[in-house]
Amino acid sequence: MGLVGDKITIRGGRPLVGRIEVKGAKNLVTKAMVAALLGETPSILRDVPNISDVRIVRGLLEAHGVKVTEGDEPGSLMLDPVDVESAHYADIDAHAGSSRIPILFCGPLLHRLGEAFIPDLGGCRIGDRPIDYHLEVLRKFGAVVEKQESGIRMSAPNGLKGTKVELPYPSVGATEQVLLTAVRAEGITELKNAAIEPEIMDLINILQKMGAIITVDTDRVIRIEGVDSLQGYQHRALFDRNEAASWAAAALATDGDIFVGGAKQAEMLTFLNVFRKVGGAFDIHDDGIRFYHPGGDLKPVIIETDVHPGFMTDWQQPLVIALTHAHGVSIVHETVYEQRFGFVDALVEMGATIQIHRECLGGHPCRFGQRNFNHSAVIAGPTKLVGADIEVPDLRGGFSHLIAALTAEGTSTVSNVGIISRGYENFITKLRLLGADFDLAG
Ligand code: EPU
Repeated sequence: MGLVGDKITIRGGRPLVGRIEVKGAKNLVTKAMVAALLGETPSILRDVPNISDVRIVRGLLEAHGVKVTEGDEPGSLMLDPVDVESAHYADIDAHAGSSRIPILFCGPLLHRLGEAFIPDLGGCRIGDRPIDYHLEVLRKFGAVVEKQESGIRMSAPNGLKGTKVELPYPSVGATEQVLLTAVRAEGITELKNAAIEPEIMDLINILQKMGAIITVDTDRVIRIEGVDSLQGYQHRALFDRNEAASWAAAALATDGDIFVGGAKQAEMLTFLNVFRKVGGAFDIHDDGIRFYHPGGDLKPVIIETDVHPGFMTDWQQPLVIALTHAHGVSIVHETVYEQRFGFVDALVEMGATIQIHRECLGGHPCRFGQRNFNHSAVIAGPTKLVGADIEVPDLRGGFSHLIAALTAEGTSTVSNVGIISRGYENFITKLRLLGADFDLAG
């Protein structure tokens, strides 16, 4: 990609046209790397994107003695956990505030070393993002959790034992916490109200390759029989459906035509339905999906984000730009994160008509309705966006700002774009390939 400066100056108005490729999903790859800690032999993970979240997890694994080297093809990593050891405090602290993945190191480290220390967590500021479910889960397995000023220290003086867990909400991270801890815990674990995102199913595929015994029942129940040891795995990561949906949204909003190599239909069914309802078109191919604006007016929609198989929260931000072009009033009811509309202020500055409400506007009440969170957006279109100086607030909001600038009349300067490389591999090169008109600055 070359070095991404912190700012990009975009001259809007050109449709994005061409072909780009997506690699493995950020939200699977980073967890698959943690799973390698559980093996007694090295693992090979293929289709790993070159994004900063992957580099952070790699750094944390290396701090714990895991040897990480290039694997057997470009984009693959070999992860050798044979010499796992406790990390030096300074090496862990260097990663404080950078990502949410360190919390998932706890179970595997407790199994391997009997203790774990994790730094303060980072990740996008899209809500409070507590870790209470994670800590509760770990305590149930028998971990002793001690919060310290600079992080959380844990130990498992009597080992970890299978348990019964019912999550208050089907949290992706807490489900992964249970999986990564239960596979080597003594006895059986039953998890109710589990998240069942495709990335979680792919993590289960990986754990089964390692020797785990995991059953996924109907009604969000997962059962795990603990085993004494696990081996390394070889796995090609599931494609990044969030990245694919982001480029699809860019194609629609810019009147463009983008072939997203590596995208697959099954994991995007819900997105594809909404894309079609808004007025977008797509062709499914064996090696990817072509997304395009077939001409005609875009139509308004009502979207409620939800856990899988619902409409993913990560898809709403990029799609909102196309909704500012739709003829009529659209509603986006965000039910997963309480503050995921921080990106909207910049769009209003650019000429969009968007109001944010505290009420649940999608039709179904959600857990945020009673709690005074600004979590419903009403978007009245069509509006023309005009160029402005805007600042990226978070990963997906940042991508939506890029799309906004690409569709706007005139020039926009988007700052803080480094955040986007947390989850979008080579996005600058991809923008260039698709014909975007921009300069890197600052
Ligand atoms: N929650 C709690 N307590 C917890 C954990 C979660 O209250 O201990 C709440 C959260 O605050 C949130 C809801 O449960 O309101 C759902 O959070 P979840 O745990 O499912 O999210 P996550 O695991 O932190 C992952 C992805 C997110 C994605 C969500 C939902 C990773 C690294 N992150 O987050 O991805 O939006 O699942 O699918 O996998 C992104 O890629 O930009 C991103 C934010």
